[in-house]
Amino acid sequence: MKNLLVTGGCGFIGSNFIRYLFTEAEFNGAVVNVDKLTYAANPQSLADIERVFGARYRLYPLDICDRDKLAQLFAETQIDAVCHFAAESHVDRSIAWPDDFIQANIIGTYNLLEISRQTKGQVELFHHVSTDEVFGSLGREGYFTEETPYRPNSPYSASKAASDHIVRAYFKTYGLPVTISNCSNNYGPYQFPEKLIPLMIINALEGKPLPVYGDGKNVRDWLYVRDHCAAIWRIMRNGRRGETYNIGGRSEMENITVVEMIAGLVDELAGSRSKPRRELITYVTDRPGHDRRYAIDSTKIETELGWKPEESFASGLQKTVEWYLSNAAWVNSVRTGEYQEWIRRHYG
Ligand code: NAD
Ligand code: TYD
Repeated sequence: MKNLLVTGGCGFIGSNFIRYLFTEAEFNGAVVNVDKLTYAANPQSLADIERVFGARYRLYPLDICDRDKLAQLFAETQIDAVCHFAAESHVDRSIAWPDDFIQANIIGTYNLLEISRQTKGQVELFHHVSTDEVFGSLGREGYFTEETPYRPNSPYSASKAASDHIVRAYFKTYGLPVTISNCSNNYGPYQFPEKLIPLMIINALEGKPLPVYGDGKNVRDWLYVRDHCAAIWRIMRNGRRGETYNIGGRSEMENITVVEMIAGLVDELAGSRSKPRRELITYVTDRPGHDRRYAIDSTKIETELGWKPEESFASGLQKTVEWYLSNAAWVNSVRTGEYQEWIRRHYG
C-alpha cells in the first residue's frame, strides 16, 4: 500500500489520519487526498504536513459524486489502496437537508467502489470508514457488536448503513478486497465546531450558552481521534479482508457530564470568568429521533488485531481543550468563515 487515496482528508478524522500516517505510522508511501472542500473541510488543517511532506502529499479538490473526474484520477494516478472517509457527517444537518447525505454517502461510495473494481486488481484494499450509528439506539444495557442488526434512525445513519451494505456487496459479489470499521463518537483536534465537544469548548470560551438537547442524558461512547486513526491503520494492514471491525473507547458518558467537564476544564485552563461556565448550560428542544445510547463492544479488534485506545476520556478531553485554547488561529478562521475565503482564493 504505497499509494493511498484518502477521501475526505480535509475533514476532521481524515486530516488526523493523514497526519498520523506521516508523523507516527510506519508509512513511507504517498497520499492523494480527494476532497470536495465542503463547509466541513479545512485544508489549513494540513498546512504543516503539506510543507514538510509535500513531495508525498497531494490534494485534489474533487466531488466523489463526479464519476468521470474520479475515473480520470484513477487512470492517471497509481492508487494501491483507498481509505474512504468522505461523507456528510452531521446528524442535525441530515435532518434539515437529507439530499446531500444520500448523494455523498451513498452515490459517492458507490462511485468509488465501481471505479476501484474496474482497476482489476490494482486496488489492493478499499477501507470504508463508518459509524456505530448504523446500529440504531441501545437501551440501558448491552453493546453493539459486529453481529448487531442494522437499525439506523437518522438520514445520516441510514445513508452510512446503505454505503456499508454496498461495500460488503462488492466484496461478496466482485471479490473487491474491502474492510469496514464502525466507530463510536470521535473528538480531538481539528473537529468542526458543529459537533458537541468543539462547539461546547468554543462557546464556553466565548461565554455563550451551552445548548444541551433534551434532558442531557443521552449517552455516547467517546474515542480520541488519534486512537481511531491507529485502529484504521491497523485494520488496513492486518485486518481480514471482507470483515467488519467495531471501534470504541469504552468511554460511555451522558452528554450533560461531558458538557460539565468541558465547562470545568475551560474554567481551569482559560482563567475564570466572574461566574463558573457551567452556569452557561441551557437545555434546548431535543433533536427529532434522538438516539438514546451508543456503546461499542470492541472485543474483536482488541483480540484479533491487538488494538486498544491509549487515551482515557479524561486525558483525551484535557488534550482537546488545550488544543483549542492554543490554536486560536485555526479556531478563528473556522469561526469567522475565513477558511472558506482561503479555499475560494486557492481552489476557486
Ligand atoms: P467531516 O464532516 O469532518 O469531514 C468530511 C470530509 O468529507 C470533509 O472534508 C468534506 O469536504 C468531505 N466530503 C463531503 N462530501 C464529499 C464529496 N461528495 N466528495 C468529496 N469529499 C466530500 O467528517 P468526519 O467527522 O471527519 O468523519 C469522517 C468519516 O468518519 C465519515 O465517513 C463519518 O461517517 C465517519 N465517522 C465519523 C465519526 C465522528 O465522530 N466524527 C465517528 C465514526 C465514523
Ligand atoms: P454530535 O456531536 O452531533 O454527534 P452524534 O449526533 O453523531 O452523536 O452530538 C453528540 C451528542 O450531543 C448527541 O446526543 C446530541 C448532543 N448535542 C447536544 O446536546 N447539543 C448540541 O449542540 C450538539 C451539537 C449535540
